[in-house]
Amino acid sequence: MCSIIGYLGLNEAAPIIVKGLKRMEYRGYDSVGVATFSNDQIMVRKGVGRVIEVNKTVKLEELSGNVGIGHTRWATHGMVTDTNAHPHPSSTGEVAIVHNGIIENHEELKNDLQKNGYSFRSQTDSEVIANLLQYHYDKTRNIKQAIVDTVAVLKGDYAFVAVFEDGTLAAARFHEPLIIGIGKKGYFISSDVLGFVEHADDVIYLDNKEFVIIRPSGIQIFDFEANPVQHQITKVSKEFADVYKGEYAHFTLKEISEQPLTIPKSGDNTKLELDLAADFIRHAKAVYITGSGTSYNSALVAKFLFAKYAKIKIEPIISSEAHFSPDVFEQQSILVALSQSGESADVLEAVKIAQNSGAKIISIVNIMTSSLAQMSSIAVGLGCGPEIGVAATKSFTSQLAILYKIVEKICGGCMGLDLSEVAETVRKELSDDSKSKIKEIAKRLKNVSDIYILGRGIHYPIALESSLKLKELTYIHAEGLPGGELKHGPLALMDSNTHVIMINPDDSTYSDTLTSAREIKARGAKVIGISDKPSDVYDYWIELPRIEESMYPFVEIIPIQLLAYYAAVEKDTDPDYPRNLAKSVTVK
Ligand code: G6P
Repeated sequence: MCSIIGYLGLNEAAPIIVKGLKRMEYRGYDSVGVATFSNDQIMVRKGVGRVIEVNKTVKLEELSGNVGIGHTRWATHGMVTDTNAHPHPSSTGEVAIVHNGIIENHEELKNDLQKNGYSFRSQTDSEVIANLLQYHYDKTRNIKQAIVDTVAVLKGDYAFVAVFEDGTLAAARFHEPLIIGIGKKGYFISSDVLGFVEHADDVIYLDNKEFVIIRPSGIQIFDFEANPVQHQITKVSKEFADVYKGEYAHFTLKEISEQPLTIPKSGDNTKLELDLAADFIRHAKAVYITGSGTSYNSALVAKFLFAKYAKIKIEPIISSEAHFSPDVFEQQSILVALSQSGESADVLEAVKIAQNSGAKIISIVNIMTSSLAQMSSIAVGLGCGPEIGVAATKSFTSQLAILYKIVEKICGGCMGLDLSEVAETVRKELSDDSKSKIKEIAKRLKNVSDIYILGRGIHYPIALESSLKLKELTYIHAEGLPGGELKHGPLALMDSNTHVIMINPDDSTYSDTLTSAREIKARGAKVIGISDKPSDVYDYWIELPRIEESMYPFVEIIPIQLLAYYAAVEKDTDPDYPRNLAKSVTVK
C-alpha cells in the first residue's frame, strides 16, 4: 500500500528517496513520484509504473536538492494516472505533499478551497492536504500553525509528509504509520523502516496525533494541539537490512525456502510474552481470534487446535467484519490479533472495537514496532524476518508455529510438539526433486481457469489458504471448500475443464475426502491429490511426507505455496508483486 518517504540532509535527496521507495515496493503500488527542493523551488516528477521504469522515463533520481519527498501510490481515489500519482503540489507550488491513507471529507474541503481560489489538478483525496496546508500557510506564513490548522479539519486516517518553499520538511500522523530516522548525514521520515534502514538505525516512532518539523538545525515534534512532545530514540533491528533476494529469482521463492529455518525459531525472541499469552488465554472468560487474508486462515487453524488439544473454544472473527458485529466481545475476554505487518487497517479496527468492549489484546505479529504491537497488552513476535513477497508464506507457518506453541503450553505438552522435526520434514518438501515434480504440475495449470481445493476438518483452513495463494500468485479463480459441501452445490461445476486439489492426509478425514475425489473424477474433472498415500483416483499425486498427525497443516501448505509460485512463473505474472494487491493494507 502507499509508502511515503522524506529526506533532509547533507546528501542529494532524490537517489536516497528512490532507493528507499524500491525497498518499500513490497507494500504494493501502481505509480511513483519524487519532489525535491532546490534553488528556492519545489520540483516534482512522477508517473505510472514500477520505480525502476518511472525512474528511467522521467529521471526521478536526477532531481537536485538536499531535501525531498517520495511516494509509491496504491490507488483508492482516482484512476491510476500520472496526474494522480504523488507528490501533489499546492496550486501555487509553495508546498508539495505525499500521503498515505484516506481523507474522508476531501470533497467538502475541496469545495471550500476552490471557493477560496485554490485549484486542483488530480482526482485524488490527497491533493486537498497540499492546498489546505497552503491555505493556512498563506494566512500566517508559519509552518507549525499551518499544520495544526490543517490537521484540525482533516477527517479520516492519514500520514503525510510535506516539503515547503523554504526547504522545511514536515510530517503528520493519524492512524497510519510514520517513523523518523536519524542518520549521520540526515533525517528521514517514512512509513516503513525499510525506507531508510541502511542510512539510519536510530529511530523515533511518531505517535498518533503528532507531527514533526524537520530543518537542518534539528527536529521538533508536537501533538496536534501544538504542544511539544519528547520522544525516546530507539534502535531498529539490523535484520531489516537483510532484504535482498540473494540467489533466488523472487522474494516469494526465497521466503518459501526459508521455512525450515523460520518455523522452529518462531516466537523465540518473545518467549516470556508467549508464556504470558498462554496464561492469559487459559484464564480468559472468552477467547476470540482475528486477522485478514492469510492471518485469518491461521485463525481458523487455531480454532481446531485449541478445541482439540487445549479444550478451549475460540471464535474466529474476520477483521473486516468486526465492525458489523461489535457486540460479540465480552468483558474479561481476550482477542488474539494475527497480522504479519501489524498495520492492516481492518485488524486495527477489530482491536479497537474489542478494546472498547473491555477485551485484552494479544497480538501475534511480525513487525514488533507496528501499530498493532503497540496497541496490545502482549505482543508475540513471529521472528521470521522481513517478508517482502505480497503473498504471505513464511509468516503463515510462523503464525501456526506460535499458535501450536501456545496450545502445547496450555495442554501440558499433549501434542509432543517438535518443531525441529516439522522443519526437517519441510526441508524434504523443498528438495530439488520435489520442486521439479511440482513444477511439472504447475505447467499444466497455465491455461486452467478454475481450481477448487477441498479439505475437511483442520485441513479446510489449509484449503482456504491454498486458494488464497493460487488467486494472489496466478490470478486463476480458486476456491477452498470443506469436502462435505461438494455435493451441496459445487459438484454442479465439475467438468473436464476443472482442476480440483484434494488435501487428503492419512487421518480421520482420509476416506471421506477420497470418496469426494471419486465423485469429482466421475464428472471428468482433473484431480490433484496432496496425500501421504497414493491412489489411482489422482491424476497427479503430490506426496506428503509422513509426520505426526497434528502437524499436517505445516506440511500441506508447502507444496501449494510452491505450486502457486511455479504456476505464476509459468503464467509470467510477477509472484512478488501481484497486480492490484498490497502487502500492508492500511486503508479499510
Ligand atoms: C493483504 C495481503 C494478504 C495478507 C493480508 C493480511 O491483503 O495482500 O496477503 O494476508 O493483507 O496482512 P497482515 O499483515 O495483517 O497479516
